[in-house]
Amino acid sequence: MSSPPAKEFKGWVAHDATNPLKFTTFTPKPFTETDIEIRVTHCGICGTDVHTLRSGWAPTDYPCVVGHEIIGIVERIGTAVPTLPSSEASRKIQIGDRVGIGAQSGACLRSDCEACADGEESYCARIVGTYNGRYADKSKSYGGFAEKWRGPAHFVFKIPDGLPSAEAAPLLCAGVTVFAPLKKYGVGPGKTVGIVGIGGLGHLGVLFAKALGADRVVAISRSSNKKADAVQGLGADAFIATGEEKGWAKKHSRSLDVILSTVSGGDMPFSQYLRLLKRDGTFIQVGAPEEPLPQLAAFALIQKGVKVTGSNIGSPEDIRQMLQLAAQKRVLPWIQKRSMEDVNAALVDMHDGKARYRYVLQNGEEQAKL
Ligand SMILES: NC(=O)c1ccc[n+]([C@@H]2O[C@H](COP(=O)([O-])OP(=O)(O)OC[C@H]3O[C@@H](n4cnc5c(N)ncnc54)[C@H](OP(=O)(O)O)[C@@H]3O)[C@@H](O)[C@H]2O)c1
Ligand SMILES: [Zn+2]
Ligand SMILES: [Zn+2]
Repeated sequence: MSSPPAKEFKGWVAHDATNPLKFTTFTPKPFTETDIEIRVTHCGICGTDVHTLRSGWAPTDYPCVVGHEIIGIVERIGTAVPTLPSSEASRKIQIGDRVGIGAQSGACLRSDCEACADGEESYCARIVGTYNGRYADKSKSYGGFAEKWRGPAHFVFKIPDGLPSAEAAPLLCAGVTVFAPLKKYGVGPGKTVGIVGIGGLGHLGVLFAKALGADRVVAISRSSNKKADAVQGLGADAFIATGEEKGWAKKHSRSLDVILSTVSGGDMPFSQYLRLLKRDGTFIQVGAPEEPLPQLAAFALIQKGVKVTGSNIGSPEDIRQMLQLAAQKRVLPWIQKRSMEDVNAALVDMHDGKARYRYVLQNGEEQAKL
């Protein structure tokens, strides 16, 4: 493309914590030679978008464009991308390719950074979120509820041909956020796994735990509303409705090797979840409530030697492995397509817990084609 990089993009901009998003211009990072620019075709709505828009964790740096489950078509590639030392996969990206971007768009990538040197970029102290972040040059990062996205090629991923664009979108954040810890903590044959919270992340947690070959996957939800979807649809082997089944923690105690919690509210029955673990079991929190987690009696940890940990998205290598597995085993999220223009209504529905199980926004002209 010969025209100079645009100074402004158009997208759905939040100006404060309460008003609807407005379709208007914003200023993306200046284009550098290690960047890629895409035309956004699809973007999923993640729980993190909702927390960020309402300044739920901390004051958001408005103006802000959220959206970090981005799929689009490459329109511009920096001259340094084909020789990028940090990523062999990014070097191969071509104009016209179908690519995705997840929740991370920057890290220091220095050899003296333990996280980056180990290929664990999502734990770099200088991590840059795809939105509400600042790149090293202090310019702001802006997400995918927009016509275009621009950012470092290191965090841009080719989408395997077998994955449809709309279904691929939620994999970029929700997919890798569940896949990476399930893999890291050994979920596979011989293991029993509980997935808590059957939302965008959680329904993919069930699908990926099955795809990784876990012996038994238990969906754990507050009510039985999602039971049929989880058991008959997603393939869970059992279902626990914590708000309805009396004595559930005792009844199912010591039954799970690993629990992955995607719960986004702070009032979860934390110590009861831990009762479900076997001796030496692992509880992984990936949901990020705005309130502190509930208090825990020391005996909840001591009695069975259980471990409580957390996990932040996944590395670029995790994303590539996850996309390959999803394409091979047809791990496809359950999505509901919405027009990008319908974003404000979709955000209200997401906030109200109506998504089954992920809304994916589509940019107008693409809806007919993809
Ligand atoms: N660690 C990371 O890297 C990472 C990455 C992406 C997102 N996140 C975070 O993960 C969380 C989930 O995101 P999502 O997109 O999956 O959201 P979501 O689609 O809204 O799903 C969240 C699920 O949590 C359960 N839940 C909600 N409030 C609860 C409460 N008070 N007590 C118990 N369960 C509750 C619900 O499941 P049931 O109806 O089945 O009970 C709900 O479907 C968010 O906090 C998000 O910010 C973290
Ligand atoms: Zn996310
Ligand atoms: Zn680093």
